[in-house]
Amino acid sequence: MDAKAIQVPAAFDGSVDPRVVSLVDPNGAAAEQFRLLHLRLDKTRAQRPLAVVALTSAVAGEGKTVTAANLAACAARRGRRVALLDCDLRRPRIAGLFGIDEGPGIAAVLGGRCRLEDAIRIGPERLTIVPAGAAPDDPGSLFSGTAFRAAIERLRGTHDEIYVDLPPALPFADAMAAANEADGVVVVVRNNETRAELVEEAVGILAGAQLIGCVLTGCEEGAAAYRKYYGKR
Ligand SMILES: Nc1ncnc2c1ncn2[C@@H]1O[C@H](COP(=O)(O)OP(=O)(O)OP(=O)(O)O)[C@@H](O)[C@H]1O
Ligand SMILES: [Mg+2]
Repeated sequence: MDAKAIQVPAAFDGSVDPRVVSLVDPNGAAAEQFRLLHLRLDKTRAQRPLAVVALTSAVAGEGKTVTAANLAACAARRGRRVALLDCDLRRPRIAGLFGIDEGPGIAAVLGGRCRLEDAIRIGPERLTIVPAGAAPDDPGSLFSGTAFRAAIERLRGTHDEIYVDLPPALPFADAMAAANEADGVVVVVRNNETRAELVEEAVGILAGAQLIGCVLTGCEEGAAAYRKYYGKR
């Protein structure tokens, strides 16, 4: 999927970050790209269960968090019961994107310091958001225990779709451990920047998980040009 470059709508002044285009500019060309991506996931869903979708990448800054937030927002707008989990305890950004408090979050739940119910916030479009919260020194170990699986299972019971934002796979073991609990893993790749060898290496690390495909970020606005054309007809 070619997610076109995220542009900031000039008029937006709410607490949701303007990069969550699926909420703040749902009729724009970027939101349309996330709708297409969500429809593709639905196609896979028609073939096999795909409630829990985790997003990772080879290296940092490829667009995982923005993609996860938009997919979750898009699904929620389509009437699904959706949860969005910030499992990037290294660089937690989900709370900031939705203008909510960072803690308590999944780190406290997995560390046994908080109940899952107490870490849940309800965001726009009735989106369930579980922020990361303050992380311990060794965040990776939290995802290899049974607590993470238990939290995911609880959310499965009450949600149709669960999106999990992970750290990049190459520098940290967290992604590998957490990805194993997902029904499908999406690898986010920044167009024209991430070297193919790094993506291959990341895919190798994620070998035990259910890889479902890649999302290219930072692409040209090809789709937008077509929309303009159709709009004129
Ligand atoms: N589809 C996209 N096209 C262009 N830029 C994007 C896209 N998605 C995200 N970005 C931009 O890329 C930067 C990194 O995005 P984001 O925080 O989502 O990446 P990340 O992979 O989660 O990073 P990190 O590894 O630090 O968690 C941000 O400046 C964001 O605005
Ligand atoms: Mg991120």
